[in-house]
Amino acid sequence: MARQLREVVFVDGVRTPFGKAKGQYAETRADDLVIKCIRELMRRNPNLPAERVDEVAIAATTQIGDQGLTIGRTAALLAGLPRSTPGYSIDRMCAGAMTAVTTTAGGIAFGAYDIAIAGGVEHMGRHPMGEGVDPNPRIISEKIVDPEALSMGNTAENLHDRYPSITKERADAYAVRSQEKTAKAYADNKIQPDLVPVATRSAENGWGLATVDEPPRPGTTMESLAALKTPFRAHGRVTAGNAAGLNDGATMALLADEETARGLDLPVKMRLVAYSFMGVEPEVMGAGPIPATEKALEQAGLTIGDIDAFEINEAFAVQVLAFLEHFGIADDDERVNPYGGAIAMGHPLASSGVRLMTQLARQFEDRPEIRYGMTTMCIGLGMGGTVIWENPNWTGASKTEEGAA
Ligand SMILES: CC(C)(COP(=O)(O)OP(=O)(O)OC[C@H]1O[C@@H](n2cnc3c(N)ncnc32)[C@H](O)[C@@H]1OP(=O)(O)O)[C@@H](O)C(=O)NCCC(=O)NCCS
Repeated sequence: MARQLREVVFVDGVRTPFGKAKGQYAETRADDLVIKCIRELMRRNPNLPAERVDEVAIAATTQIGDQGLTIGRTAALLAGLPRSTPGYSIDRMCAGAMTAVTTTAGGIAFGAYDIAIAGGVEHMGRHPMGEGVDPNPRIISEKIVDPEALSMGNTAENLHDRYPSITKERADAYAVRSQEKTAKAYADNKIQPDLVPVATRSAENGWGLATVDEPPRPGTTMESLAALKTPFRAHGRVTAGNAAGLNDGATMALLADEETARGLDLPVKMRLVAYSFMGVEPEVMGAGPIPATEKALEQAGLTIGDIDAFEINEAFAVQVLAFLEHFGIADDDERVNPYGGAIAMGHPLASSGVRLMTQLARQFEDRPEIRYGMTTMCIGLGMGGTVIWENPNWTGASKTEEGAA
């Protein structure tokens, strides 16, 4: 049988407001956050008949309790999708939702599905990092992995060692800017359109409605950050202020074969160009996006200069700065995280990949003059993931054509 690959498009993306662990979602189940997002995607896209959703892939790093039991399937059922709609769970730590997208995208390109829902959740309040894990002792005793690799904060300190030019002051300055940009993005209504309000309940305070992210600290200054402890190393550089926090939240994307999306008159917000995951030494986990990006660019036949919009997950400021330094991009380059990032908004591990994509889609809508954008993130145990997207609203000549002319 002759088989033709198909274009995969990002139709829509939503997320819950993110919470602080033990904050606004302290008494809300993780799977309820997922269900809310699936329902919102279906509500926002009334042209999509529920029975046309061919797969539901949901990521979580800790797959037990309310994040267990094949959450893709259980959440699909609870969200009211037909019983005929299958679902499954995915884990690639911080890049869970990113992997849910790339994996289902592969299925769409191959022709196994026309339409998929892909997203992620992490309720770090209910499921602290490392809950229930049982690493094989040989991974340490046989020196396959440095013991420091199991603490993400330690790997960030190691990355500072690897890049001595990235000082604590540079990391703090980056963090202050992230907070400022997120505050501005909220003021400009760039974040709110893709948030789904979540009803919350607390035994003490009764019912509430989560409508905005809880983690941002808009008043953050260099002085306030300078005073913070360095919990991962005495006299270290990583603090609660220049790292993402411990957070709760869920994200969800609707992906489709482009012809199917156009046939159903669904929006086409981004077109998938290439993706790549790469491993690095686990003890400098934050370096992962560098080789992942190099490989994705090579696959796409692009250079870093072709990318006009970056959404980089800010697990730690040092990890973003290492990426920027490697590619010769300034710390405050306006193409990078224009709406701020995880340092301000939060990083509920397996959910964050789709937050990056949803924000890139908004940038594409606002800026038809740009053609290519990138979502990239570091991943626990030493990996990076990069997805390159094309702006379907792009109208102008490409840089390559301009250069050749
Ligand atoms: C860094 C970390 C250990 C801090 O945890 P924590 O101590 O519970 O964090 P808190 O929110 O309580 O902040 C600690 C202190 O810093 C202060 N603080 C945090 N951000 C601040 C900011 N932007 N400005 C000023 N003060 C700030 C808090 O007010 C708090 O002060 P207090 O001790 O006087 O109450 C935790 O957030 C962490 O592990 N982050 C990394 C998560 C991770 O590894 N993710 C995966 C990445 S791959």
